Amino acid sequence: MASCSFSLLIIINFIIITGFPFSVIAQESLNRNVTLRSSIVANANANSTWTSPSGEFTFGFWQISPGAFLLAIWFDQIHDKTLVWSANRDEPVSAGSTVQLSTDGTLELVDQTGRRVWASHARSGTVAYAAMLDTGNLVLASNTSAILWQSFDSPTDTLLPTQVLNRQSSVLYSSFSATNFSKGRFKFTLQGDGNLVLISRSVPSDENLNTYWSSKTLETGFQLIFNNSGSINLYQQNGTLLRPLFESGPLVGQFYHRLVLEHDGVLRHYVYPKSANSSSAWSVRDFEPSNICSAVVERHTGGGPCGFNSYCSIKAEGRPSCNCPLNYYPRGGGLSGCTPDFVQQRCDHQQVQDALSFGLIEMYNIDWPFVDYTKLRNVDEDTCRQSCLSDCFCAIAIYSDGDCFKKSLPFSNGRLDSGFAGKALIKVRMNNTLASNPYTTTSGGESSKSSGSTTLTITLSVLLGCAGLLFLLSSFFFVFYLKRRKTTIVEQRSHVQPAVVSTISSFSFKEVEEATNGFDEELGRGACSIVYRGTLKDDGKVVAVKKLHKIFEQADDEFKAEVSSISRTNHKNLVQLVGYCDEGQNRILVYEFITNGSLATFLFQKLPRPNWHTRVQIAFAIARGICYLHEDCSMPIIHCDIKPQNVLLNETFTPKIADFGLAKLLKADQTRTVTGIRGTKGYVAPEWFRNMPITVKVDVYSFGIMLLELMCCRRSYEADVEDEGEAVLADWAYDCYQQGALDLLVAGDEEAKSDMKTLEIYVKTAIWCIQEDPTLRPHMNIVMHMLQGSMQVPTPPDPTAFIH
Ligand SMILES: *[C@@H]1O[C@H](CO)[C@@H](O)[C@H](O)[C@H]1NC(C)=O
Ligand SMILES: *[C@@H]1O[C@H](CO)[C@@H](O)[C@H](O)[C@H]1NC(C)=O
Ligand SMILES: *[C@@H]1O[C@H](CO)[C@@H](O)[C@H](O)[C@H]1NC(C)=O
Repeated sequence: MASCSFSLLIIINFIIITGFPFSVIAQESLNRNVTLRSSIVANANANSTWTSPSGEFTFGFWQISPGAFLLAIWFDQIHDKTLVWSANRDEPVSAGSTVQLSTDGTLELVDQTGRRVWASHARSGTVAYAAMLDTGNLVLASNTSAILWQSFDSPTDTLLPTQVLNRQSSVLYSSFSATNFSKGRFKFTLQGDGNLVLISRSVPSDENLNTYWSSKTLETGFQLIFNNSGSINLYQQNGTLLRPLFESGPLVGQFYHRLVLEHDGVLRHYVYPKSANSSSAWSVRDFEPSNICSAVVERHTGGGPCGFNSYCSIKAEGRPSCNCPLNYYPRGGGLSGCTPDFVQQRCDHQQVQDALSFGLIEMYNIDWPFVDYTKLRNVDEDTCRQSCLSDCFCAIAIYSDGDCFKKSLPFSNGRLDSGFAGKALIKVRMNNTLASNPYTTTSGGESSKSSGSTTLTITLSVLLGCAGLLFLLSSFFFVFYLKRRKTTIVEQRSHVQPAVVSTISSFSFKEVEEATNGFDEELGRGACSIVYRGTLKDDGKVVAVKKLHKIFEQADDEFKAEVSSISRTNHKNLVQLVGYCDEGQNRILVYEFITNGSLATFLFQKLPRPNWHTRVQIAFAIARGICYLHEDCSMPIIHCDIKPQNVLLNETFTPKIADFGLAKLLKADQTRTVTGIRGTKGYVAPEWFRNMPITVKVDVYSFGIMLLELMCCRRSYEADVEDEGEAVLADWAYDCYQQGALDLLVAGDEEAKSDMKTLEIYVKTAIWCIQEDPTLRPHMNIVMHMLQGSMQVPTPPDPTAFIH
């Protein structure tokens, strides 16, 4: 068998290199049983597929989110199954869609309404059968086994050993994001001019922006071959080796290989041991370009490696880390750029007066090169500052060595560059009400005059001092890393999970009924749902089954969309969704079961008081979970209902946030909560009562209240206290803080008293979080820096000083 496929490969290589038009497959290495009229239907159980003889590759429907499928080929014998090809990446199909090898020999994908979504276009000849080969190539072949069509000729974002990229033939497009397989912002191709190139493109209009890497083989490059020794080489037309793209990898017999243009624009060669165990993963052998942050430069159009208004810093394996300047935040998706969370400066007759509301934040080692709309030469820094502040077009000024470069929104090419000695001055509005915020669920709100701007300025400079230090540190590591790159890459394990498979199941109502023994054991209930205990029949796994009340009947699409966004989250501090049921009037979510009950029970139990260090760890872990929801998903998820009842603890007291992603579904319920709680100091941010936009900052507020509860082991409001001043925890905590008497907050808690430093950091951070002015509340990533001590916490202002 082994020698057979080896000789087959030699034949294929020969054919490829000599450019022989028709290749032929050896008989022994394939199943010929995918005959005309064979078909596969898309459904959640994915039971029907066409698999290669070795079982290593499978062709079939790959579920990307509940009810959405790609017709695809994937590595099937490793635990993190990995997509290598797809027919309909830009147009996922629903359950009930079919792929069939029709009687005329066309492989066609037809959706459940009968519309043809995709079809193979075979060369002339009569197709007799289809076969999934052990190379990962799906072929349509004639009776004599001549290949008439092959998936290798129309790659998606991946090349496999024995695959060839011909001059001016196919293009690899990166995925849009790690979880969205649509065509993304980068492409890889061997151009007609012989150059092998990586190009950034605009989405959705397929316009080339900038060639950010090339093989520099003008005229000569003819064919890129991923050969069966794991080498990826560029050849001339006469078969002479021009240059290796990547040096040979470990043996193809013992390792899986793939070359993939990833969503971050980096081309990576990955390998995976075939003798894999459950802890194996794809590891990166080599990649190009070595620094995507400085490689992708848009001089005319496009936002640069991380999108508009962002800046990029480079991590291991050439992975870009995309960040926003302070007072800007992510638009969702790592490479989608950032947006200011304040209203832009007016450019009308009130411009001069409005300019008074703006200040400049300093950032170091960060530059947005090539996109100045104007420059001032030989000026001092003060002139540069004044010039930007008084100019309504200026969003950023870079002051470097006597020169002042002014940039307007949106600005491009942002990057962290340790070699850049200049200073970035970011213009931000001091007081604003987020009227132009894109995450808002309601609109309205106008800029208001209020005091407190000096506090903000001071705060920001302190924050930025710290941020600058962080950048310096990370640049140091970056330089260190580059030096070591060549030697250490080979054995490095991948840090990022390759293409996550959606593992969430769809259950029938009957299955859920059986699992819960007829909704027998109730675990709890909320305003809009009841939670039951259940046991899955398949694997005996205990689950929590959340049955939503019938008020959701109409929101069918919304339900699907939300389930799909929840199912894409994966973080150790979030409760994992296992599956869902959407049948008739029944809307049910099935979650992993978390054994140790809610944080509320844990925290507010009668004595003994829970351990201080456990509480500190829980607080930090919750911050991490919320930060993930806000920043790491393709769309930010605002929880809207952060409270101890919605945080569960597992057997090791790791907190898991529950009920996230339901905010949109439970909108009706939210308003109810708000009216119910009006006037009391709950977990609900003041924006809810004030007809102000709802942003991620509402979660920051709720987190701040919960953080105080975790510190003090008491509820945010307790009527039954001796001193009236202690009834509202937020007020009491601020009073104690101001009077320098934090120990009163933890009276009787000796563990906490012996750790006053942590207590002070946590309480100060909490006071920042519960600022009534949402713009003063830090984003969760800043909260995490504060809690872990990597950023000094500035003195917080009085949370209630905000006058609206
Ligand atoms: C083809 O035959 C192989 C080996 O007998 C089998 O494993 C595979 O499931 C068959 N495929 C189809 C589509 O019938
Ligand atoms: C994936 O990205 C494309 C391009 O932006 C977008 O049109 C599509 O809706 C996204 N798909 C999902 C499932 O988010
Ligand atoms: C693949 O390319 C490498 C480097 O050019 C070469 O040493 C090796 O023999 C080639 N392997 C095959 C199977 O062609």
